Amino acid sequence: MKHFLNTADWALEDLQAMIDDARAMKASPLGDALKDKTIALLFLNNSLRTRTSFDVGARQLGGHAVVLSPSGGMWPLEFEDGVVMDGDAEEHVKEAAKVLSRYCDMIGIRAFPKFVDWQEDRQDKILNAFAKYADVPVVNMETITHPCQEMAHVMALQERLGDLKGKKFVLTWTYHPKPLNTAVANSALMIAAKFGMKPTLLCPTEDYVLDDRYVEQACKDAAANGYGVNITHDIKEAYEDADVVYAKSWGALPYFGNWEPEKPIRDAHKHFIVDEEKMAKTNNALVSHCLPMRRNVKMTDAVFDSANCIAYDEAENRLHVQKAIMKALVG
Ligand code: CP
Repeated sequence: MKHFLNTADWALEDLQAMIDDARAMKASPLGDALKDKTIALLFLNNSLRTRTSFDVGARQLGGHAVVLSPSGGMWPLEFEDGVVMDGDAEEHVKEAAKVLSRYCDMIGIRAFPKFVDWQEDRQDKILNAFAKYADVPVVNMETITHPCQEMAHVMALQERLGDLKGKKFVLTWTYHPKPLNTAVANSALMIAAKFGMKPTLLCPTEDYVLDDRYVEQACKDAAANGYGVNITHDIKEAYEDADVVYAKSWGALPYFGNWEPEKPIRDAHKHFIVDEEKMAKTNNALVSHCLPMRRNVKMTDAVFDSANCIAYDEAENRLHVQKAIMKALVG
């Protein structure tokens, strides 16, 4: 039994095979590969795309999704082992995972960081607890990485560019009024390197560099293709000759749990917005964002609504690629 927790756990050939299958299903969406299969979708955080695309995807292949969330009446869960459960949690993840495994064929988990202590959040305890105790495959629906989003992004890029090898990929930090999850940024950097692109990470200061674990994984994969990961705070250098620009905002890891002093740094870098002037420096780059996105804060209307923006394709591809992932796990 294999889980889909992170793309780093999967060989490039297996990921490409899923994307190829997703492209076939994009052309011909209906089938019975998940006939009578059920996926439990556990959302500890909000969602529009993930929730809808998994549910619709399962149904298009003859399966069924059950959506669970604490606000939807689920018992509050405990994720630590060996604790005295005298707090708010009524049920331990051990029982929840085992019982859901008796009803369902897969379990999807969305569990964002708590934004208090990165050393704690980086352990991805909720996802790993489900992977440990479930007797069925577990799918990461975004925790501290977002592998389904990565796959949809690569699929959208391949649809427009074909072979991605050697393309300059720029992951740019953008301003947001709140410090956000690094999950999509971690994922974007890793998948760009894995699929043979030349990654550049553009961020305001050293404090915004991503967790070593993901930078090192990207460096390892980039090195296998003869590249390095370029980390820069220079907007002009980053955008110059870029083939792909991926926009995302995230909070600086050294400020986890102490966000007040981070705010002035973020506020001073509103000019990292993806706009027409910056895009003009690129090699007619494609541009995208995982969504949801604050218009004219992270990216101008003119860029987002341009023909170079593939964000809607990427969002659509979540449906197709997640069907392929579910098929690869239990189909
Ligand atoms: N991109 C993404 O995962 O969207 P949702 O948060 O709406 O699911």
